[in-house]
Amino acid sequence: KVSMAVDLGGIRMKNPVNTASGTFGNGWQFEGFYSVGDLGAITTKGCAAEAWDGNPAPRMCELPSGIMNSVGLQNPGVRAFIASYGEYLAGLEERGCRVICQVAGHSIEEYVRALELFEELAPFASGFEINISCPNVSKGGAAMGATAAAAAEVMAAVRPVTKRPIVVKMAPHDVGEIARALEAEGADALSLINTIPGMAIDVRTRRSKLSRPTAGISGPAIHAIAVRMVWEAHRAVSIPLCGIGGVTSGEDAAEFILAGATAVSVGTANLVDPTAAPRVERELEAWAESQGVSDINELIGAFEC
Ligand code: DOR
Repeated sequence: KVSMAVDLGGIRMKNPVNTASGTFGNGWQFEGFYSVGDLGAITTKGCAAEAWDGNPAPRMCELPSGIMNSVGLQNPGVRAFIASYGEYLAGLEERGCRVICQVAGHSIEEYVRALELFEELAPFASGFEINISCPNVSKGGAAMGATAAAAAEVMAAVRPVTKRPIVVKMAPHDVGEIARALEAEGADALSLINTIPGMAIDVRTRRSKLSRPTAGISGPAIHAIAVRMVWEAHRAVSIPLCGIGGVTSGEDAAEFILAGATAVSVGTANLVDPTAAPRVERELEAWAESQGVSDINELIGAFEC
């Protein structure tokens, strides 16, 4: 039997499988399908200090190889989020599934304020994920992750707020320089990638299929790009990485591990098959066994070029 436990920058997971923010409700919605406590971790939907409405509908559509969304980080604000889900999430931690709370902001001050609230109101959380890569908000979001200087500024501001692990969710840019800047400012881990801005046009009406002209594409369409970016980040920094992008099978997850990821997140696949995450875990374990190792950690970054 292969040991599957991994350490994502201080977040000690019983297996490498996490769920990508925004694709997994806040966990409890999936309990009817399997025991969510068996996952390595879950990452909750981005939450800001105060409630955000998000963008008008329609804000999600299916494409042949993925999903396009322009949600715009709709969230109830940290206080209401904790009031609704805190008890369930604290219970998940007790079941051995790590809870990573994602933090959103329109400005550096807002990221700091949201993290301060989480620090105070979410004692159960094993770590936080700072989202500096949402393509669907006009202020903050991806703008914060677009340059090494902006990313470093956010990281420097949030670092003093908590001693718990901070993961930073990166945009699909030239990752090397930005990853190094985040590591230098004290990030414990990086997660990559977020969705990639794309367009979907309804040719009959000549309008966007969504409420905004551009929106983020996720799913199998972006998997190969994400694997390449994880490999680039792996060569640029020594902090652990969480690979995200089009994981629908254990094989997809294994590619991320070989490219240098310590953990992997299942995202869009949760919306297609609600049992995808535990299946990915079983298939990943079978693959690790087939590689003749006793510990999955031996396979991290074991890609040979
Ligand atoms: O594709 C995304 N959609 N990425 C994010 O980071 C946030 C989300 C949204 O709410 O728009």
